[in-house]
Amino acid sequence: MTFKPVPLPRIQGGAPVGTHVPLIERYLDRLPFEPGDKLVSLQEGSTPLLQAPVISEIVGATVRLKLEGSNPTGSFKDRGMTCAVSAAARDGAKAVICASTGNTAASSAAYAARAGITCAVIVPEGKIAQGKMAQTLVHGARVISLRGNFDQALTLVRELTATHPIVLVNSVNEYRIEGQKTAAFEIHEALEGGLDALCIPVGNAGNITSYWRGFREMGTSPRMLGFQAEGAAPLVAGHPIEHPETVASAIRIGNPVRWEDAMAAATDSRGSIRTVSDTEILSAYQLLAYREGMFCEPASAASVAGLLKYGAEGAEQVVCVLTGRGLKDPETAIANNDGRMITCPVEIAAIEEAVLGDP
Ligand code: F0G
Repeated sequence: MTFKPVPLPRIQGGAPVGTHVPLIERYLDRLPFEPGDKLVSLQEGSTPLLQAPVISEIVGATVRLKLEGSNPTGSFKDRGMTCAVSAAARDGAKAVICASTGNTAASSAAYAARAGITCAVIVPEGKIAQGKMAQTLVHGARVISLRGNFDQALTLVRELTATHPIVLVNSVNEYRIEGQKTAAFEIHEALEGGLDALCIPVGNAGNITSYWRGFREMGTSPRMLGFQAEGAAPLVAGHPIEHPETVASAIRIGNPVRWEDAMAAATDSRGSIRTVSDTEILSAYQLLAYREGMFCEPASAASVAGLLKYGAEGAEQVVCVLTGRGLKDPETAIANNDGRMITCPVEIAAIEEAVLGDP
């Protein structure tokens, strides 16, 4: 059975449904849209800011988690994508494209479907977490599986969009940065400007760029503490990494497009960009799941891994951005089960032992 994408311009505008206001409407005066513009929205943004008592205790600061996995497609990308796709639709685009480690692909596919626009994504072959691939396919995007890495995919889509009328929705697109800066607005409002430090994973470096822009617009300067995976840390090394490697597939990136902006965010905020190892990422991932009840994807856990590794460094109010939902990457969750899966014959004695015996 094949579904043909519905060719109707199903663009949402007007009054919000329920209490959840589309992101662009909520911050219309701070975004490059006019009242009455048709918006392509899945009611993104307004995500929870959750207290993390266990992590707070460990680092001796009040730590909160910005749950960006609560966005409609399960990652922060929806904030930028509602803007990028609304603008593309407004300007009459027929197609959007991106290179992606998975989340941008899923988000662009969903928003393009909503807008009735064609979507193509280029992803590194075999390097995309399953949940993200499922999302991208189900929304009807064309998926090009590249025998190369993310950086090569991005170079190719930039080349392609230079000569074809297809809108590039990677974070080179200014609308993406504009949309994503709203997460900083939400944190600023929730903490009434009292944030000291923001911990955030860094891949292509669009998000740290966006947060810094958002905080600056609010007139505050929390320290921006960016974390890259050790095997994919070009900003720390000071040069591109040709073969980036990390368990956190979302941030397996060797040549970030927002390089200068990210470095400026770190420097101007008196922050830093530092590394965390895969082991540190996975142990933060497990701590979040086991002790805080929060299932995020590995890349997201890099923010908490960094905080645990380097400490709060005098900050009293800290926010760690959990950029994507754990269900995006079921492979990693199942592979790190610590032997808690027990197969059992249909016998009460065996069940008793399995349930009640020593772990
Ligand atoms: N966390 C997650 C879950 C991501 O998907 C990404 C980036 C990042 C962090 C890093 O954010 O690139 O703005 O520094 N994912 C992109 C993608 C590259 O294609 O989905 P960044």
